[in-house]
Amino acid sequence: MQYQDLIQAALEAREMAYVPYSHYTVGAALLTAEGETYQGGNIENASYGATNCAERTAIFKAVSEGRRSFLAIAIAGGMEGKEPVDYAYPCGICRQVMQEFAGEDFRIIVARSVSDYKIYRLEELLPHGFGGGSIQ
Ligand code: THU
Repeated sequence: MQYQDLIQAALEAREMAYVPYSHYTVGAALLTAEGETYQGGNIENASYGATNCAERTAIFKAVSEGRRSFLAIAIAGGMEGKEPVDYAYPCGICRQVMQEFAGEDFRIIVARSVSDYKIYRLEELLPHGFGGGSIQ
């Protein structure tokens, strides 16, 4: 799968976000080692802290279906009904959840459109991350 296809899936996932409070929709599309794509949107809650980010929605969907090996995640966010203005970087909690499952090859793509995006390794966004190896 091309990164452009994954970004397109993230842009489409924004439409499934539930955002009655912030009106900021985020879409994520996670590419598994098996070549499948899991989409997720942010799911807000009246108790704000119970909100789930788009990235974790996608990752938890995949893990709950037995997938644990991931190649990339594309992320796109912006105000509801509008095209993304800025790159939507993953929050700290989502970076930590990525740390749990990301291998060396994992890439994080933040996109404003299918032709305007940046690619990162998790190490760049979460240096000196705490992972399973830290507690062995
Ligand atoms: N949000 C995400 O979905 N992913 C992130 O990495 C950062 C924030 C969502 C949570 C909330 O619904 C909205 O963006 C505003 O914070």
